[in-house]
Amino acid sequence: MDKSERPIGMFDSGVGGLTVARAVIDLLPHEDLVYFGDTARCPYGPRSSEEVKRFALEIMDLLVEQDVKMLVIACNAAASSGLDDALSRYDVPILSVIGPGVRAGVAATRNGHIGLIGTEVTVRSGAYDDAVRATGAPVTLTSRACPRFVEFVERGDTTSDGVLAVAETYLAPLKEAEVDTVILGCTHYPLLTGVIQYVMGEGVVLVSSAEATAVEVFARLRDDDLLEQSGRPGAHRFISSSEEGIFSELGRRFLGPEFGKAEHMPWADRMDLV
Ligand code: DGL
Repeated sequence: MDKSERPIGMFDSGVGGLTVARAVIDLLPHEDLVYFGDTARCPYGPRSSEEVKRFALEIMDLLVEQDVKMLVIACNAAASSGLDDALSRYDVPILSVIGPGVRAGVAATRNGHIGLIGTEVTVRSGAYDDAVRATGAPVTLTSRACPRFVEFVERGDTTSDGVLAVAETYLAPLKEAEVDTVILGCTHYPLLTGVIQYVMGEGVVLVSSAEATAVEVFARLRDDDLLEQSGRPGAHRFISSSEEGIFSELGRRFLGPEFGKAEHMPWADRMDLV
């Protein structure tokens, strides 16, 4: 098989990365995609970087066995868990959501005050501070971990009074810091855009790394001569590490008709599902 005909491999701890999958399918409708949601071990946010790194490498090994032509780390927690040194073991291009999100945030800010919200492991890692510094832009980053947001999204609750009250508390320091841009540093958070925008107010730009990542996926495939050329519609597989349940339900709701039929636990015997 020609290399360009192989699928893109993508993963997240759960349904959050489907926001990235949606954006990639919209921009690259002819590409095949294999998406893995590690629903059995979600959330990653409260875990240690070492543990998240181990999960991420286990999943990427399995995706590479599916003969993917590119890996997209659609999970900030995984991308910030010190993976860099380990990535040389794969001979396919690897993109994560952090760089595209930071570049979009830096381009969007007008007053140089950017907020970053993410899970505990991501915020603790300082990966966003490093990525912002690497751009050389004169911006100040105010970071806030929002641990309970993932829990709400995985329950399918994106509008209740409960999630709004939690958002008011989490986002107060960002409002105090007068940020004019907020990077959604967790791929679950775009599903809470309504609540987050409501609390932050209209003038604040919310940056979802999903669209920015999809743009970079296109550019990288194009530069590496890996774009699917046949013009046929892409085939999409959605795989979870737990049994039938929220993954299928939320997948259909959050991703739409392309979600199709999810596969549950096909690799369970190959994984350390603690
Ligand atoms: N969606 C993931 C992220 O982008 C993490 C959610 C979690 O499992 O805590 O960080």
